[in-house]
Amino acid sequence: MILNGSNNFMNQNMKIPFVDLYPQYEELKSDIDSAIADIITRSDFITGPTVDKFERVISEYTGAEDCASIGSGTNALICALKALGIGPDDEVLTVGHTFVSTTESIVNVGAIPRFIDINEFYQMDTDQLVYSSRLKAILFVDLYGQTPDIDKILEFAKQWNLVVIEDAAQSFGAEYKGKKVGNMVDLTCFSFNPVKNLGAMGDAGAVTGSKKLIDKVRMYRDHGRKTKFEYDTVGYNARIDNLQAVIVGTKLKKIDEWLDKKISICRKYTEQLNDVVKCPKEAPWSKHSYHLYVVETPHGTRDDLQEFLKQQGIQTNIHYKIPTHRTKAFYDGTKLPVTERICENIISLPCYHTLMEHHQDFIVKSIKEFYAD
Ligand SMILES: Cc1ncc(COP(=O)(O)O)c(C=O)c1O
Repeated sequence: MILNGSNNFMNQNMKIPFVDLYPQYEELKSDIDSAIADIITRSDFITGPTVDKFERVISEYTGAEDCASIGSGTNALICALKALGIGPDDEVLTVGHTFVSTTESIVNVGAIPRFIDINEFYQMDTDQLVYSSRLKAILFVDLYGQTPDIDKILEFAKQWNLVVIEDAAQSFGAEYKGKKVGNMVDLTCFSFNPVKNLGAMGDAGAVTGSKKLIDKVRMYRDHGRKTKFEYDTVGYNARIDNLQAVIVGTKLKKIDEWLDKKISICRKYTEQLNDVVKCPKEAPWSKHSYHLYVVETPHGTRDDLQEFLKQQGIQTNIHYKIPTHRTKAFYDGTKLPVTERICENIISLPCYHTLMEHHQDFIVKSIKEFYAD
């Protein structure tokens, strides 16, 4: 490290990536290599017992009655909406503070997203749930890795006879009031995108729920197929690739250990940064799985902080800069003041279970340095 003229330290060697996936592979190398070799040797690339086994282990972990593996989290959402009968002109209550897939899946089945704002936990604000005559579903998101107040959402849904879908792309392993995500609403959709806490080495996802609904999801993910030659509905090619199924299945053995390590890293950030930036709050009902560690910076400082950290060799990210209701594809004039304010100020810090202690210390020190004067 050297000091530059303005008393900021400039690091010449340190490179801290925003995500670092290779150490996960190294930790499980022999198991992953042999699982991949086995698939290749048996030329067992899609469907069959490999997928059945994968679906069983995901059901067991989440406590769900059944699970359908899917080719991606996005396709999980689309197949779930279709299985629940959501289609043209139906309205779906959702949030704008999310990855584009949430909104995109609603629009892709022909339905209309109705956006509502978020609360201090970055989750759907259940005080803003509002009924309209065409409302058929609520699609909420466990953004960054914790859930909204699910009981309040279920209560509203029951009152108005709505179906409930959970976008749990970011919350595998999280809990709500002591129950694992995957078993609380009509259908829960997971993503195993490589950067997720439980990540494949390509695209992959799953839907969990009751056997009756999951059978429908299975039909949609496989061209609408009922039996080998019977197609009862128009579906998709949205099946998981078996190589991804065995990779995710192998990593699943480590997920609780990895989550525990990640949670302590995130709590350490909160302890050390709380007086400098606004750190994420864990909701009283939730076990947060911290897919992302996102802080709110003092207004007008985010972009300069990001640039400063970049100069220090620290890679950061923004989730998300433009909320989906403000993007060109989905713009409908809705105003969500909390979402829009937050999107101007948030920054995501490197956070993974293999983040080295001296790297985290350096990140904290750099942020404190930036806000020192
Ligand atoms: C909130 C949210 N929903 C949906 C998705 C879509 O998942 P996938 O990338 O597996 O299609 C993602 C992830 O990327 C996500 O973060």
